[in-house]
Amino acid sequence: MRQQISRLSIVFGVLLLALVLARHFLIPKSFGKIGHYRAAAVDAIAARKIKYAGHQACASCHEEIVKLHDDRRHRNVACEVCHGPAAAHVEAPTEIRLPAPKQRGYCPLCHGYDPSRPTGFPQIDPVSHNPLKPCITCHNPHAPETPHTPEECSACHGEIARTKAVSHHALLPCTGCHETQKQHKITPQLSRPSKPASRAFCGQCHGVDASSPKEIPRVDLATHGERYVCWQCHYPHFPELK
Ligand code: HEC
Ligand code: HEC
Ligand code: HEC
Ligand code: HEC
Ligand code: HEC
Ligand code: HEC
Ligand code: HEC
Ligand code: HEC
Repeated sequence: MRQQISRLSIVFGVLLLALVLARHFLIPKSFGKIGHYRAAAVDAIAARKIKYAGHQACASCHEEIVKLHDDRRHRNVACEVCHGPAAAHVEAPTEIRLPAPKQRGYCPLCHGYDPSRPTGFPQIDPVSHNPLKPCITCHNPHAPETPHTPEECSACHGEIARTKAVSHHALLPCTGCHETQKQHKITPQLSRPSKPASRAFCGQCHGVDASSPKEIPRVDLATHGERYVCWQCHYPHFPELK
């Protein structure tokens, strides 16, 4: 028992000594002067070279591009997001040249389809969207608006279209359930298509006494999930329940 206590106290003694030595030799001199960190860090960080020039800096030499860019859909994507830090270029424009991301792989970093992005954000499937050509053959990076109004709903609602295509509703056109004005394809947020609002809407085809073709499965609206709208249980773009 005694022996063990003395062994333990040796261990603790060594640890304590190590701690005291470490405090003395390893902690920087300026630590604690102005709070719980190394005061000299402020000067060290301030002494670093500034790498970014800021958006305004470009306007003095690239006036036309800045004007165009600030007026279009990439207005909130700063020049240096795509061209990289530009402070050195501003100092010596002809010696320090900036890269331009011309390759096809770049734009999908933001525009590749990803279900976690907000639905309103323009997204494409890089595999099927006009493959092989670089994006900038059709989209001006400084004024990226689509070259013409999209024809198909799937140009912007790719995920819904792909889901519906393998469902029992594959043959129903989108516009059968959503009244859509032409303007929706030009300014989608401002012109909203309609959405079915009642059980009776689905009942047009699925109600027991509906006049729709016989192959369509029927339910009695009075007793089938009667307390909820249909799409609480059936996703309308993939209605089957497995
Ligand atoms: C002092 C004037 C000046 C400023 C400020 C300036 N540039 Fe430039 N930039 C130039 C000149 C001149 C060229 C052409 C260089 C050449 O062709 O040798 C150029 C070329 C470029 C190129 C094309 C490079 C290439 O190899 O084709 C890009 C991209 C660019 N600038 C981006 C920027 C961005 C972004 C900013 C703002 C952060 C900026 N520039 C600020 C003068 C400037
Ligand atoms: C979305 C990415 C993106 C943003 C944002 C962007 N650029 Fe570019 N920029 C490009 C690409 C890609 C090219 C190459 C275009 C080409 O070769 O056809 C380019 C080319 C250039 C060029 C040289 C070719 C030319 O068109 O004269 C300059 C200069 C330039 N950009 C400046 C700017 C400035 C200034 C801004 C901010 C106002 C800016 N860019 C914002 C992607 C971008
Ligand atoms: C840092 C992220 C980012 C990068 C990189 C980027 N974009 Fe964008 N893009 C945006 C944002 C943000 C918008 C505006 C979305 C909005 O208005 O709701 C946009 C809008 C667009 C639109 C407009 C879609 C429409 O319906 O009018 C197109 C097309 C586009 N970008 C193409 C490109 C191309 C081509 C590139 C590569 C040169 C590129 N983007 C790189 C963020 C990015
Ligand atoms: C051959 C020309 C062409 C090429 C190459 C191209 N696009 Fe498009 N893009 C279009 C057209 C046309 C539209 C309009 C929608 C449609 O009809 O598909 C469009 C639409 C878009 C949209 C808008 C979708 C929405 O939801 O508003 C984005 C974003 C986009 N393209 C990004 C890209 C990116 C990123 C690349 C490169 C990986 C690329 N495009 C390559 C022609 C092209
Ligand atoms: C240019 C791209 C584009 C095209 C083409 C397009 N949409 Fe949309 N749509 C959107 C955007 C963006 C929203 C808004 C998403 C958001 O804000 O959540 C939207 C929303 C919707 C909504 C939901 C409305 C709401 O209030 O919740 C429906 C339904 C819809 N679209 C149906 C269609 C149909 C049907 C077509 C084809 C006839 C179509 N869209 C074509 C971009 C487009
Ligand atoms: C059988 C009818 C039906 C068809 C066909 C249909 N939808 Fe819908 N859609 C609905 C209903 C019902 C809702 C409302 C769901 C809700 O409120 O939760 C909806 C919601 C939406 C929304 C809003 C966002 C979401 O996912 O809830 C969009 C966008 C949309 N539909 C687009 C489309 C597109 C594009 C097509 C064609 C590819 C299509 N719809 C085909 C019935 C349909
Ligand atoms: C224009 C007619 C029409 C409308 C409106 C319609 N459907 Fe359908 N529905 C069909 C057809 C056609 C089938 C496929 C029948 C088949 O596969 O033989 C179907 C299949 C179904 C199925 C069966 C899937 C299975 O597992 O067999 C369900 C569930 C369904 N729809 C729910 C709905 C809901 C919910 C709505 C309202 C948002 C709706 N439908 C609106 C025509 C319609
Ligand atoms: C509370 C959830 C719920 C609601 C609400 C609901 N359903 Fe169903 N539905 C189901 C379930 C679960 C099944 C599969 C089991 C069954 O056949 O009862 C089903 C099956 C179906 C079928 C396939 C029947 C067959 O014979 O293959 C159709 C069609 C259908 N529902 C349409 C609708 C329509 C139209 C509405 C709205 C009027 C609706 N459902 C509302 C849960 C619901």
